[in-house]
Amino acid sequence: MDSSSDPGEYWQNRLTANYSLDGTGFQALGQEYNKWMYRIRKVIVKKAVKRMISKLDVKDVFDIGSGTGFYIEMWIKLGASGVIGSDITDVAVLNLRQNYPSNEFFKLDIGQEVLPDELSAKKFDIISAFDVLFHITEDVRYSNAILNINHLLRKDGIFLFSENFLHRDALRSQHQVSRPLASIERLLQEAGFTILDRIPMFVIMNAPVDTNNRILPSTWKSIRVAAKKGKFASNITGCILYPLELVLTSIAREGPSTELMICKKLEECSQY
Ligand SMILES: C[S@@+](CC[C@H](N)C(=O)[O-])C[C@H]1O[C@@H](n2cnc3c(N)ncnc32)[C@H](O)[C@@H]1O
Repeated sequence: MDSSSDPGEYWQNRLTANYSLDGTGFQALGQEYNKWMYRIRKVIVKKAVKRMISKLDVKDVFDIGSGTGFYIEMWIKLGASGVIGSDITDVAVLNLRQNYPSNEFFKLDIGQEVLPDELSAKKFDIISAFDVLFHITEDVRYSNAILNINHLLRKDGIFLFSENFLHRDALRSQHQVSRPLASIERLLQEAGFTILDRIPMFVIMNAPVDTNNRILPSTWKSIRVAAKKGKFASNITGCILYPLELVLTSIAREGPSTELMICKKLEECSQY
């Protein structure tokens, strides 16, 4: 476990040691279980994108906190006309430039107050930030991120992001802050966004940080124990839960864990 308190340094160390889907995902559960989690994420995000966004072949997409490029690959395969990525770390940006030589990648901390000139002048139709913003632990930098994203979007542009939207007070740890849904909604509205939808990404396959249900935490505990018992167990656990999770996420209206929020930019924020 890296104890660095600087987020850039923390992610640089984490991804240098493990540039893979468990480096960007739920590290303790192993690469096999994480692959199943990412399969769920892809199904949910693609379904939402196809429902909300027409004609991707004329859209400019900017992905924030691209990590290993899982969503860069998704946007390219979905047919977006221009896909640009970014990350706070050198290690991700260097790998992404090597793995996707036709695409542009920026080193960027989205929580910084002022965007770099070469990026600030650009405008996008779609911006995505999957499991990134809850890693911004300082509230002022979190607000900066929302304002920066608003600034980078064209009018009527779409912002998709995933994180835990809590129905209670914030949960703070060294490298992650899960914030209350109400405070995130307020920040988005103040920045000039309207919220189009919020969709559960997980019900049982990820930590149930936002639930009063008594069964989910003990189910999650058993899943963690099973997934940690080596490669085979990690794979089997994910494989068994995958179809169940697809059904549960399609039925649930509120998720106990990560959710996908989809917003539209109505206006330029005057604070920028
Ligand atoms: C949990 S990983 C998610 C990676 C990728 N979005 C995915 O879902 O596979 C978080 C990523 O965000 C990056 N990151 C963390 N804080 C950031 C910030 N303030 N600005 C930009 N990227 C950041 C990390 O380096 C890491 O690649």
